[in-house]
Formats: sequence, C-alpha cells, structure tokens
Amino acid sequence: MHIRPATARDIPRLTDITTTSLVDDKTYDYMWPHRHEYPEDNVFWWQLKIERHLYDKKAVFLVVETDPEDEKAGGTDKATGPASVVISYIIWERIGCNKDARKRFAEKNTWLNVFDSTVAQMRTWSVDKKYQRRDGDPARLKALDEASDEVRKEYFSDLTDWWSLELLVTDRNYRRRGAASRLVRWGMNQADIEGLACGVEASVMGALLYTALGFRKLVTWCVRVPGDDDELVYDVMRREPWGLVLR
Ligand SMILES: CC(C)(COP(=O)(O)OP(=O)(O)OC[C@H]1O[C@@H](n2cnc3c(N)ncnc32)[C@H](O)[C@@H]1OP(=O)(O)O)[C@@H](O)C(=O)NCCC(=O)NCCS
Repeated sequence: MHIRPATARDIPRLTDITTTSLVDDKTYDYMWPHRHEYPEDNVFWWQLKIERHLYDKKAVFLVVETDPEDEKAGGTDKATGPASVVISYIIWERIGCNKDARKRFAEKNTWLNVFDSTVAQMRTWSVDKKYQRRDGDPARLKALDEASDEVRKEYFSDLTDWWSLELLVTDRNYRRRGAASRLVRWGMNQADIEGLACGVEASVMGALLYTALGFRKLVTWCVRVPGDDDELVYDVMRREPWGLVLR
C-alpha cells in the first residue's frame, strides 16, 4: 500500500468510506442521529464536505491505496474488481501563518484550486439555501462547534503554528493493517520537520492509535446539550515535536 494526495476522482470512494466506516466513531451518530431515516442526506452532504476539504488551501488530504501485490487488495482479477483500492484517508489542517505555512498554502492554491474551491463553496451555499439537511441534530452540531472552539482556546492557544488532525478513517474491511498509522505519521514527520506540535480531538478508536504513536492525552472533554439524555465524550490529545520530546 502507498500514500498519495486525494484527487477529485476519489470523492465517491471517500464518501463511501465515510458513510460506512466513520460510523464506528461515536461522534458520527451523535452528530447525525437521523442518518438511517435520511441516508441520501447523509451521503450527499458528506460528499459536499469532502469536496470542500479537498480544495481547502490549508488542508492536506491524503489517502492510502492498496497495491496490486498486496494481500486481499480488492481483487487483482479483472472480473472481481480493481487492482488498487483506496482504504483509508486523513485530513490534516495546517494552522497558523508563519513562512512555511504561507509557502504551503500558496503552492496548493493555484488559480485552478481557487476556482474549484470557490465552486465547491458556492455549491454548498446554494444547496443549503434550497434544502434543509435532515439527518443531523442542530443543537448538538452547535454544541460540538462551540466545544471545539473552547478546546482550541484552552489547549492550543499557546501555539501560533501547529498541525491539526481533522478527520481520519479506515474502511472497516481493511483495519489493523497500518494504513491509518502511515497517514498519521505523515503529519508527525511534517510537524517534526517544521518543529511544530500536532493535536487531535480523538474518538475512542482513534485514541488507541494516537497513544500508540506517542500522542499524550491532555483532557477528556464532554459535550452535552441541556435537556438531551445523550452526551459525547472524547479525548483531547497532543504530540510535541521530536526535538522537544527529547529535551
Ligand atoms: C481509528 C482507525 C482510523 C484506525 O485505523 P487502522 O488503519 O485500523 O489503524 P492501524 O492499522 O494503523 O492501527 C495501528 C495501531 O493503532 C492501535 N489500534 C488501532 N485500532 C485499534 C483497535 N480497534 N483496538 C486496539 N488498538 C487499535 C494499535 O496499536 C494498532 O497497531 P496493531 O494493529 O499493530 O496492534 C479506524 O479504527 C477507524 O476508522 N475507526 C473509526 C473512525 C475513527 O474513530 N477515526 C478516528 C477519529 S479521531
């Protein structure tokens, strides 16, 4: 298997992985409790979201793809399917605006990317004007946004520049083969090169992986909407750059 940047061609497959496998992260059902009643909303809006991330100049969107020689790669036989298949993806966001960040943003943001990004944002804007998304819980979504802001203020405001792990998922059928580790290590290496920290709001499954890779838990955060019986609990985790770990 190998890592490569995601492209527009991957959008249907990335949407598929999201709606079939990200569901194992409890955050998913907390945010989208009506997804079973409105699966078409769930798939459609995720597709829009993935497209926006793809063209976001601050985002690094990577996938892991199997190679034909990998065991159970998805079928090397022409009759049974493609020789290579995307099995995992990650979205890293580069926070800050130092020289390295500005260079990275400028390299990604070609005029074609500006065009695609604008189109993707306008498409979402127009869809949101026309249709009401029905699979989500608006109060929980608002509470989660506010919690995220709070977490950043409390645990990351000492950093002007850092790498934030926004989203990570591996197809259910391809777990425990090291795909996610490769994608997380990419960001850790990049952060080390720049001498920066990495941070993540980790699901239960994610926390196992991040701990194995050397992230440290800072706090367990709880999100609860008044009057709602359900709540969401996740770990805020951080990893210092290699040089700082050694010191
Ligand atoms: C978390 C997730 C991305 C891990 O993907 P993966 O490709 O299976 O991860 P890896 O194979 O690289 O796992 C590497 C290590 O992480 C730890 N780990 C990962 N999943 C684990 C699990 N279910 N139980 C225990 N340890 C686990 C192990 O140390 C593992 O090494 P090992 O297999 O040699 O024991 C995947 O389980 C997933 O998609 N979960 C649902 C979505 C989610 O929670 N995403 C994280 C959001 S913050």
